[in-house]
Amino acid sequence: MTLNANEYKYANPVQRILMGPGPSEIPPRVLRAMAAPCVGYLDPYFLSVMDETQKLLRYLFQTGNELTLPMTGTGMAGMEACLVNMLEPGDEAVICVHGAFGGRMCEIVERLGCKLIRVDGEWGRKTDPEAVRKAVKGKSPKLLAVVHAETSTGVCQPLEDLAGIAKEAGALFMVDMVTSLGGLDIAVDRSKIDVAYSGTQKCISCPPGLTPLTFSEAAMQVLKKRKTLVPNWYLDMSMVKNYWNSERKYHHTAPINMMYGILEALRIISEEGLETRFARHILNHRALVAGIEAMGLKMLVPESERLPTLNTVVVPQGVEDLKVRKALLEEFGIEIGGGLGALAGKIWRIGLMGHSSTRRNVLLFLSALQSILKVQGVKIGGGALEAAEDIYRKAA
Ligand SMILES: Cc1ncc(COP(=O)(O)O)c(C=O)c1O
Repeated sequence: MTLNANEYKYANPVQRILMGPGPSEIPPRVLRAMAAPCVGYLDPYFLSVMDETQKLLRYLFQTGNELTLPMTGTGMAGMEACLVNMLEPGDEAVICVHGAFGGRMCEIVERLGCKLIRVDGEWGRKTDPEAVRKAVKGKSPKLLAVVHAETSTGVCQPLEDLAGIAKEAGALFMVDMVTSLGGLDIAVDRSKIDVAYSGTQKCISCPPGLTPLTFSEAAMQVLKKRKTLVPNWYLDMSMVKNYWNSERKYHHTAPINMMYGILEALRIISEEGLETRFARHILNHRALVAGIEAMGLKMLVPESERLPTLNTVVVPQGVEDLKVRKALLEEFGIEIGGGLGALAGKIWRIGLMGHSSTRRNVLLFLSALQSILKVQGVKIGGGALEAAEDIYRKAA
């Protein structure tokens, strides 16, 4: 059989420089690992893949939690898995909302028939712990949840105060780590997090398809003592765990080649080392911001609340958001994201996650943006590359 030109195009996707809100670029080692022969889900070789993956995931989450595994599905499956396993109808749940993903948590909580205590903050700013304290007063929530790295706004939420509020209220502390795990120093045990989930396609730099999860001992007790069955069969961790522990009981067929991918991505992370990896993400973020500000453009988020893995830049007055993003993609092969919800058309979202967080990408992006804005007649300051290089020089 021969492919016609059109079919051939779809069998051979274009190569992009991925600097959007995810996926990030995938190291060739991960792609090669995923192309290995498929084996059975109980093959002794695959069981060793599972064991090594769990060990490395505990290292990455910085936790000793027994129940730490990559669940089938993307980040949204992780969010849903955490909420459906921890909550039962009538439970109170506090959700901090300072962007799009906090809003999604609220939708799930309501679908579960729980009492939602929603704490809304300004998009582009962190959640104020005092507002949460006030909302919790006199209530007895079972869970308090927040997004650590709000991909929709570029805000990094400090966790210490919120963890304290959750503990004082006797609630489980749940954190969305989709855009931070593997890029930022967030330690599940140190931060007193009970339930957390992430995604593979951001700072872990593996294709989308798995959602690393971790449940503390307290979370496991809550699961064990449920009065009702977990309403979602597929995401019921009391069953899923029995495939990952020594029982090796079939629940669903593991996505074998995705597991090869995440294992290789985790090995790459451990070879680099967490400290070096976190420092790399911060350095590239600082260089990008220096270049952006040298051009006279503005970051959406105040410096102390910025998320190094996802940078939000305000689209300058009179500049067409989409025209710039189209030129970046078509002329330079660079993907960045636009704003969501109320921020649509108002910001650019520039990801520096995992394998995409490099000096090469920062300098390439700055020179491409500079060139596009000049061609479109936008007045910008000069010296973006020099400002970024200066950051690298000083850090060397
Ligand atoms: C903070 C956050 N939470 C959850 C999700 C949902 O993840 P997914 O799109 O992999 O289902 C995303 C995706 O961008 C995210 O950025």
